[in-house]
Amino acid sequence: MKVIKSISEMQAYMREKVKEGRVIGFIPTMGYLHEGHQQLMREAKKECDFVVTSIFVNPLQFGPNEDFDRYPRDEHHDLKIAEQEENDILFFPHVNEMYPNEQSVNMTVHKRVNALCGKSRVGHFDGVVTVLAKLFNIVMPDKVYMGMKDAQQVAVVDALIEDYNIPVKLVPVPTVREEDFLAKSSRNVYLNAIEREEAPYLYQGLLHGKSLIEENVEKSPQAVIEAVSHFIKTHTHGKIDYVDVLSYPQLESLEVCRGDMIIAVAVHFEKARLIDNIRVYQ
Ligand code: PAJ
Repeated sequence: MKVIKSISEMQAYMREKVKEGRVIGFIPTMGYLHEGHQQLMREAKKECDFVVTSIFVNPLQFGPNEDFDRYPRDEHHDLKIAEQEENDILFFPHVNEMYPNEQSVNMTVHKRVNALCGKSRVGHFDGVVTVLAKLFNIVMPDKVYMGMKDAQQVAVVDALIEDYNIPVKLVPVPTVREEDFLAKSSRNVYLNAIEREEAPYLYQGLLHGKSLIEENVEKSPQAVIEAVSHFIKTHTHGKIDYVDVLSYPQLESLEVCRGDMIIAVAVHFEKARLIDNIRVYQ
């Protein structure tokens, strides 16, 4: 595996790979790699003959009161994992390489961001699309692998690719979970022992909501939201940021639970905000 830190070196290298006709798979990450990231790499490995992972903690997608400085980092561990998963290239730029100057042109996301994390993390998805637009131009991938753990991110990137005619295919990958079904996340390390025991109830709450819809117990999104919120409040000490039932991928409110939907939650624990979601078709 080759580790590249410079954008110009990366572009020169990737241009060669494009010329050779390689099918290039790309996994953008912020590092502190875990099984969720590894699953994306494995899917890319199956479908592509050249795999690039990037590690870049993107300051643009963190709000002023968010955890940019505290975001977990472990370069040594990440290099080992990326190597073990047989990545061809690990692109690992410094922040000054990605943002040498303040951007003169900003990207703003208008749709699919007025709910869920977009609502509570204002500007977050502007930062995500900005860094991904840059990374797509640097890596020139045929396919990009992204986790459904961040379902709203997948919906927004789907819109970015469509709106800007970016020649890349988005491959959504199902959420990888711990044995007790807690969604794997770099932020799980910030849970204390009691919170770690409570955290799987987020997914249990989502399953409860899904069964209410699928078994026709509840047709009203509001009733499902209330049931899931009640379930999470009963089983955890976490503070609910949101519970919502929305159409997917448009992420619009629904009159009744019908069609392709998502139930999504975000819960604040003391030092970590956890998110999870489940798809429901009715
Ligand atoms: P990061 O949180 O590091 O996640 C990188 C990718 O891993 C995302 O596509 C995310 O959805 C996926 N992922 C994380 N946990 C997962 C799990 N348990 N199962 C499956 N996939 C999982 O998301 C970002 O970084 C950034 O916003 C980024 C896209 C890199 C832009 O900066």
